[in-house]
Amino acid sequence: MKRLEDKIAIITGSARGIGFGIAEKYAKEGAHVIIIDLFAEGVETAVAKLKENGFSAEGFAADVSNSEQIAEIFKEIFNTHKKIDILVNNAGITRDGLLMKMKESDWDMVMNVNLKGTFICTQKVCRYMMKKRVGAIINIASVIGLMGNAGQANYAASKGGIIAFTKSAAKEFASRNIRVNAVAPGFIETEMTKKLPEDVVEGYAKAIPLNKMGSIENIADCCVFLASDESSYITGQTIQVDGGLIM
Ligand SMILES: NC(=O)c1ccc[n+]([C@@H]2O[C@H](COP(=O)([O-])OP(=O)(O)OC[C@H]3O[C@@H](n4cnc5c(N)ncnc54)[C@H](O)[C@@H]3O)[C@@H](O)[C@H]2O)c1
Repeated sequence: MKRLEDKIAIITGSARGIGFGIAEKYAKEGAHVIIIDLFAEGVETAVAKLKENGFSAEGFAADVSNSEQIAEIFKEIFNTHKKIDILVNNAGITRDGLLMKMKESDWDMVMNVNLKGTFICTQKVCRYMMKKRVGAIINIASVIGLMGNAGQANYAASKGGIIAFTKSAAKEFASRNIRVNAVAPGFIETEMTKKLPEDVVEGYAKAIPLNKMGSIENIADCCVFLASDESSYITGQTIQVDGGLIM
């Protein structure tokens, strides 16, 4: 038996990168996956790729920070499938800059997508999970939310906020059998980290006890565990998948 057989799983920001990797792994484990991403063309390509490989998938182009859009889509998903088992709040962006010069618009943008988007999707999905008295919500944070980073005050605050939000949501939903956990990736090879200067990447790689950057698969594996019954007694936790970067 596959670990996520017949589960209905929504993954945000999953047209590419870590989100797509999670969707692919969930699909391999038997879930019907729902791709949600701002990038409409990317949604189509991601769904087509999953279907080509024989998996069950559908997609919606949407902005996680738009509560009306998300409410409508989640309602449609529930009406079609009669349940929603898993939500992964993965959509995230960076707008880096030193604090002294950081534009308010860059602060707001990162907060809106990363933190408010996580709040909106969690709020809109929980009513459906509560109806069935079962659910797993996984929030993708970052080690930056635990240790901070020069030039990423907005991103660090949003990810630290996600970790605190995860604990509060876990406490609120525990009596309804809905578990809420976070994953804090370290440095993972994706489009997002390709934007970092080479010397920064080299510096981080040296500081990682396991001596290499992580892969999308490393994060997806942890997300499968947190969505499956194997983690049924775990809630409110943040699991670092960072090669030992912070201990
Ligand atoms: N790559 C890393 O090393 C790393 C480390 C720690 C945490 N993370 C986190 O993992 C998550 C995924 O990162 P990634 O590296 O795959 O990034 P990525 O930029 O490759 O992918 C992010 C996806 O989110 C989508 N997106 C952006 N804004 C959106 C919005 N408003 N609504 C819906 N979708 C939106 C993008 O279109 C894109 O497809 C992010 O939350 C990121 O902060 C990444």
